[in-house]
Amino acid sequence: MDIRKNALLYSCAMVLGAGASLLAAEDNEDALLGRAQHTFKALPADAGTPERPLTPERVALGRSLFFETRVSSDGKGSCGGCHNPFLYGTDALPRSVGVGGKVIPRNAPTVFNTALQFVQHYGGNRADVEEQAVKALVSPLAYGNADYAAAEARLRALTGYRMMFEKAFPGEAEPVTALNWGKAIGAFERTLITPAPFDDFLKGNKAALSAQAKQGLDKFMSFGCSGCHSGVTVGGQMFQKFGLTQDYWELTGSKEIDIFKARDKGRFQDTKNDADAFMFKVQQLRNVAVTPPYFHDGSVAELGDAIRIMGKLQLGRDLSDADISDIKAFLQSLTGEVPPQFAAVPSLPVAGYKY
Ligand code: HEC
Ligand code: HEC
Repeated sequence: MDIRKNALLYSCAMVLGAGASLLAAEDNEDALLGRAQHTFKALPADAGTPERPLTPERVALGRSLFFETRVSSDGKGSCGGCHNPFLYGTDALPRSVGVGGKVIPRNAPTVFNTALQFVQHYGGNRADVEEQAVKALVSPLAYGNADYAAAEARLRALTGYRMMFEKAFPGEAEPVTALNWGKAIGAFERTLITPAPFDDFLKGNKAALSAQAKQGLDKFMSFGCSGCHSGVTVGGQMFQKFGLTQDYWELTGSKEIDIFKARDKGRFQDTKNDADAFMFKVQQLRNVAVTPPYFHDGSVAELGDAIRIMGKLQLGRDLSDADISDIKAFLQSLTGEVPPQFAAVPSLPVAGYKY
């Protein structure tokens, strides 16, 4: 056969081949997007519900109360002190320091997107963000008030808040209450939503993720991470045992924590039910790349290490360095912007004259 004809045939085949593999790549991308859409969900604009309406007055009040220190028993602590605007809604400490310098035995998670999780706290002992905020008032570690009456007395002494409460809770004879503190702070938290490149991807923009992030997403789903970390917050939708294949202490370097007089057994601390030993809420992974350190006790500083430990402890799988950097690239695509209403601390109302 004529050698030129042969070459021509060959190059036609090459072009056809390249076209086919381009098509295949596109099919793969569509399939990846389809699987992702099946497993995760893009963030909504906010986490308001008919029972938890986000009126501007409520959100504004909640925003002030979030940064208010004068309601804590030592006049120093506030939500914003441990869920800091400059640190993506965390304090970046392994474990938080509470009222009177007491160490809280757990790592402070971000408040961003938290209202979309199925329960609050690592052990799930708070049903929603509103209950979480109310109970913080009387926690001996957080606000340190002896009871709700003491917390309400501090709140009512800050007379500059009265009109804000009246507007946020119209028609109530006494709106300055611990319950309304919770509803207002909860309303503010329900606005702290951080859309990320991954949301654009889920909405169909396949260019929103880098090739490596797509590879990582594929592995995250194929390896089984998404069996636990799924839904709108990529986690935060169920409890699971931490350390399925092996004791987590052996890998994380966790230390005994005095306050529990033993190891932190997660959900068991509240329920005292043996079946709940070492059950923790599967943490949400939104903004995980910018909210170290990791795990309930803040025992792991690097995201790559946290990924490796998860592979080993939850899936019995030794992840390669390439797997870890791909998955990390995917997790980085879950980083959104700090919401503007959170980035700036509001000026707080005056206390009024009580001399
Ligand atoms: C002294 C530090 C500190 C203060 C003050 C504080 N928090 Fe936290 N916050 C933490 C820690 C630590 C946890 C984890 C506790 C746990 O899960 O047992 C947490 C958990 C949470 C959670 C649950 C997040 C999740 O992923 O489950 C929310 C929501 C929250 N805090 C909001 C608030 C609000 C609102 C306030 C103010 C009313 C507040 N926090 C005050 C340290 C603090
Ligand atoms: C069987 C359920 C399960 C599987 C599978 C699983 N995880 Fe987890 N993951 C958890 C639980 C439970 C926690 C919370 C542990 C804690 O707080 O101490 C967690 C925590 C994490 C954290 C720490 C988040 C933070 O802010 O501290 C990361 C990162 C993480 N998982 C990534 C992964 C990756 C990547 C995979 C797959 C290789 C994976 N997980 C597989 C249940 C699971």
